[in-house]
Amino acid sequence: MSSASDAGGTAQQARAQAQALDQEDPLAFTRSEFNIPTVADIASTRLADPGSKGSSEMRESESAKCIYLCGNSLGLQPKRTPTRINQYLSTWAAQGVQGHFKPLEGSPLPTWLDADAQAAELIAPIVGAAPSEVAVMQTLTANLHLLMSAFYRPDINGKHKIILESKAFPSDHFAVETQLRHHGLNPKTSMVTIESPFSQDNVPSTYDIMSVISTHAATTALLLLPGIQYYTGQLLDINVITAFAHKHDIFVIWDLAHAVGNVPLSLHDWNADAAAWCSYKYLNSGPGSIGGLFVHERHSQVTKAVTDTKPEEGYTNRLAGWWGNDKSSRFTMANKFHPVAGAAGFQLSNPSILDITSLSASLEVFGLAGGMQPLRKKSLRLTAYLETLLAGMKEEDKAMFRIITPSDPRQRGAQLSILLADGLLGIVMSTLEARGVIADERKPDVIRVAPAPLYNTFEDCVRFVQVFSLALESGRRARGE
Ligand SMILES: Cc1ncc(COP(=O)(O)O)c(C=O)c1O
Repeated sequence: MSSASDAGGTAQQARAQAQALDQEDPLAFTRSEFNIPTVADIASTRLADPGSKGSSEMRESESAKCIYLCGNSLGLQPKRTPTRINQYLSTWAAQGVQGHFKPLEGSPLPTWLDADAQAAELIAPIVGAAPSEVAVMQTLTANLHLLMSAFYRPDINGKHKIILESKAFPSDHFAVETQLRHHGLNPKTSMVTIESPFSQDNVPSTYDIMSVISTHAATTALLLLPGIQYYTGQLLDINVITAFAHKHDIFVIWDLAHAVGNVPLSLHDWNADAAAWCSYKYLNSGPGSIGGLFVHERHSQVTKAVTDTKPEEGYTNRLAGWWGNDKSSRFTMANKFHPVAGAAGFQLSNPSILDITSLSASLEVFGLAGGMQPLRKKSLRLTAYLETLLAGMKEEDKAMFRIITPSDPRQRGAQLSILLADGLLGIVMSTLEARGVIADERKPDVIRVAPAPLYNTFEDCVRFVQVFSLALESGRRARGE
């Protein structure tokens, strides 16, 4: 037998083995809850017609589906999302303003006045909080600003610094810089960035982070860190770092963009002060859809009654809007802000019901899966499987990349970040795309690959590695090797 057909045989065996793992997977059924784009879809430059029969038949054929490993950037669309959105649109069409408060027989949707509270109930177990500690609202960067506006109280002669990672997502960096300037402070003297002196890949250890906190403890008011680092995929020890910061009287805000819906979180028990997230990645709510925030119950109490003469003394001040006002007086239109207790008291505006409907549709699927524990169990297996397949590639392939995500599964979520040799990113990405693989690139040299346990399969991992090998071969050819 020729070596080419040997390779073909091995490739088929690998796929068959992966298919067997998929058949045994107790969570395999959630894949059918999602619209998985076909290879033809992702190559097309025309607006897809989801109603056409041919297209829906194609969609259901496994071999026609693309390999979508990009849930770390944008989660796929649950099939129930268009259904729920259409129900929302029907409510609006038939009821107008009454949709706010009139329950409808046969409708799975809450009245619009209750939609934010119901979405908070659904998201609370995903972040490990009481429903009253979470609010579904605004967007991630806006929520980081809102949290800092409430809890960052710099004292230039004492605690005024904010610590963040040196390679923070730019929006977090901008938010911190501009908060400092907003308070009349100079980022050069009030912003501290965490480097990772012992890691060439910018993967600081818990010890590295604690060292920076210790060095600046006396002058630091706030620590802003990611639950999972967007570039490297590193999962930080939220519990331990929070406890250490608290010993130094530092308020900690967690950016959970890449952690929410990816790894189980216990924000209440870990004593996190506050956190914010977006919902378009592992939570599959759609591009730019509504975010959320967590405020630990100890920071969101309202201790004075609305009738007190100085109500502003009974709660932490914040940048407020009417939707954060106590529900009983929200519609009396009195100009006296009195927040509802809990995270809901940080809301500004009446939320987009379109967004909340979309998010809640996806959270229904999390419910079907049994929540974060079984999802994490599958995710650990999927990502380890992908890692093993990458480690088993040909030596000439392996010489062209390195995984920079920690190999310890406790220090990562679904994502593996693959650092390519210089100059390969363009050709690797174009080969992947041409062969129906969607991953994402982070310049200069990283591709991020995230098998999401709700809709990815073991077979996706095998197919990805096979195409990745071809992409590296194209890279070698382009280099004239
Ligand atoms: C870690 C992190 N922080 C902040 C943001 C910004 O999010 P948004 O545009 O929803 O404010 C993102 C977006 O991907 C992110 O990954």
